[in-house]
Amino acid sequence: MSNKWSSQRVNGIKLSEIRAVFTKVEEARSKGIHVTNFSIGRPDFDTPKHIKKAAQEALESGLVHYTASAGIAPLREAICRRLEEDFGLQIQADEVIVSSGATEAIYIALQSVLNPGDEVIVPEPMYVYYAGWSHLGESKCVSIPLCEKDGFLLKAERLKDYISEKTRVLILNSPNNPTGQVYRKEDLLEIAKLAVEHDFLVISDDIYHHMVYDDLEYFPIAKAPGMKERTLIIGSFSKSYAMDGWRIGYLAAPRAIIADAIKIHQHIVSCPNTFVQHGAKSALTASQECVKQMVAEFDRRRKLLISCMNDMDMPCVRPQGAFYAFPAIKKYGMTSQGFADFLLTEAQVAVVPGDAFGESGEGHVRISYSIPYEEIEKGMERVAEAIKKL
Ligand SMILES: Cc1ncc(COP(=O)(O)O)c(C=O)c1O
Repeated sequence: MSNKWSSQRVNGIKLSEIRAVFTKVEEARSKGIHVTNFSIGRPDFDTPKHIKKAAQEALESGLVHYTASAGIAPLREAICRRLEEDFGLQIQADEVIVSSGATEAIYIALQSVLNPGDEVIVPEPMYVYYAGWSHLGESKCVSIPLCEKDGFLLKAERLKDYISEKTRVLILNSPNNPTGQVYRKEDLLEIAKLAVEHDFLVISDDIYHHMVYDDLEYFPIAKAPGMKERTLIIGSFSKSYAMDGWRIGYLAAPRAIIADAIKIHQHIVSCPNTFVQHGAKSALTASQECVKQMVAEFDRRRKLLISCMNDMDMPCVRPQGAFYAFPAIKKYGMTSQGFADFLLTEAQVAVVPGDAFGESGEGHVRISYSIPYEEIEKGMERVAEAIKKL
């Protein structure tokens, strides 16, 4: 609610609607009701021990003071090495800023490149803050509605209709939150051609890049011809290493953009948390076995969820990345909000209404499979029972 002190800037943004689901879950739990919570957008695993140990050792050895604004050199170097080893990307340490999560990275990226009146194109359903971040950059968020028929994936042909003189940035998020879809190399190559031809930037929100299933290959758009110099890569430790509460991520971008982004970064955080950076360095330099194990477990849960949805005839574009499924619920004759409320009351199951991700998410709900296998089984059994009543 705005008040007489509210800035126009703040009036143009809103709180994440996912929070509203949290509140409802908390209310139900306070009444002693056990809720299966499919609304959580973070891993349920603990941060691997060696990462915690590295942060603890940093604290013990007195690493408690500010670091360089862009982050400690060994961490920035480790980020570059991992991007090269995992995805064949060639990025130098001075093209990286360590941020307070991907959240800060996207904010500083957009603040550095947007001018009033610019347009930011985002395929929709979209992650909850992209529109708000565009607004804070005094720009217009131009959403491209996608649906099941498109497989929730943007094609270059479709994108063409939305490009204008004012287009400054396209934000892509693959694997996608909330749809769980993964962009294919051939589509990204076509999209990249448009970025070069029409001279706009691409923010590639890659925070789920390790979570790809069905033998798909993750292709970074920065590798397409002419894209290295116009791609801003967003990375995070939140999901791959179960470090969401640590608040650490990064922006990797062309040097000229980094030179601008570091100014905004200094103004809002000065530098990232020191001992957290040491934990993050260990996450990247130690064995990646922990990541593989978590991803394998997500895959096992994904298959279970898909088979449960199939058994109850709930239509869903096959989720292939991250830890989200985005089934269609139109046939139950309710809005996504109504269906989410129905599941909470009738099945004690929490999901996120699809319209939290923009209007084109209406008619869907987001189910996050970042809860234990057995809970998914029980929760989906209750969903199946509840929808029989409809
Ligand atoms: C697509 C997407 N981008 C960015 C973020 C923010 O991540 P972080 O925890 O690194 O700030 C999230 C978190 O859920 C996300 O799903």
